[in-house]
Amino acid sequence: PVHPVILSGGVGSRLWPLSRERYPKQFLDVAASGNTLVQQTVARLEGVAGLDSPMVVCNQEHRFLVAEQLRDNPLGAARILLEPVGRNTAPAVATAALQALRGAEDAVLAVFPADHLVGEPGALRAAITDAVAAARAGYLVTFGIVPTRPETGYGYIEAGEAVEGGPAHAVRRFVEKPDAATAEAYVGTGRFYWNSGMFVMRASRYLEELQRHAPAIVEACEAALADAEHDLDFIRLAEAAFARCPSDSIDYAVMEHTDAAVTLPLDAGWSDLGSWATLMEAGERDAEGNVLLGDVIAESSRNNYVRAESRLVATVGLEDHVVVETADSVLVAPRDQVHAVKQIVQRLQDGG
Ligand code: GDD
Ligand code: MG
Repeated sequence: PVHPVILSGGVGSRLWPLSRERYPKQFLDVAASGNTLVQQTVARLEGVAGLDSPMVVCNQEHRFLVAEQLRDNPLGAARILLEPVGRNTAPAVATAALQALRGAEDAVLAVFPADHLVGEPGALRAAITDAVAAARAGYLVTFGIVPTRPETGYGYIEAGEAVEGGPAHAVRRFVEKPDAATAEAYVGTGRFYWNSGMFVMRASRYLEELQRHAPAIVEACEAALADAEHDLDFIRLAEAAFARCPSDSIDYAVMEHTDAAVTLPLDAGWSDLGSWATLMEAGERDAEGNVLLGDVIAESSRNNYVRAESRLVATVGLEDHVVVETADSVLVAPRDQVHAVKQIVQRLQDGG
């Protein structure tokens, strides 16, 4: 069986004030499509052959949000793994892998972040089918997106020779979140792809590679699952063991080091809804270049992202700004500085 693993433990601080610690972006309809991001992540997989029910890995604080939002999902009753604390994605995938291996030794994981937009789900489903074949052959499969800008928030994949018998290419190099100059150099060559953050691999192969490159993570996750409490649809990882797990992403812990990675090109209208800038890019613009959501009136205003959640928002003569109104907070920022919203979240966490 192929287990869809949904990574749903991030906080999404770059989408403040919409995304909050208690209510992060994956549980919101950030793209204003009628479904939350985690719901879309599961729903777009319907129709891929051989999929088991979804396995969701999230913080224990969000267990009811996940259970509620995935109650009637098309893939069947969600299995929900609860983390007592966030330890980033390498441990999250490790616990899912260990859990999947309890069912069958040849279990395959298809890992999906819960913060993506996919314009053409059919293309993604086709790519997943190819990926499963490569995963069964022992590869850790990534999906490569043709880069359109020197984004420093993504991982970069340098594609090598074609792998025999399939559309995959060897990964010559995997570089997570390079600096701006490096990203700039990569984008120009035509050999580099963005890592989409989705992975398909045998559970056992992932754990072997993790054991080789970050054994302390495997050890802590095994202990956390061995002592886990099972109640209803929830599997609560043991707190003491999981708390001592090193915190690292699958990208830094495994993908940068492994020799087993391959990449499949993916052209599916993919974007990571990580920031207000990417949300604006993905949004529908009016004739003045504005993306306006909710109760908004824009007069003589151009190239803004304006989002009203709880009351009327009006702009006059505004250009190149992001304005996000929620019931208790309002963000106003020039578009080219909106990434600094992270600092606001930091200040709020530090107490103002
Ligand atoms: N369960 C769990 N626990 N999930 C987590 C945790 C955690 O501690 N931390 C993050 N996640 C989830 C997030 O909710 C998101 O769905 C996914 O894991 C990826 O985490 P991000 O924090 O959004 O990663 P990123 O966007 O910086 O980088 C990754 O994705 C990029 C593409 O979107 C990397 O894989 C990059 O290489 C890639 O380019
Ligand atoms: Mg992300």
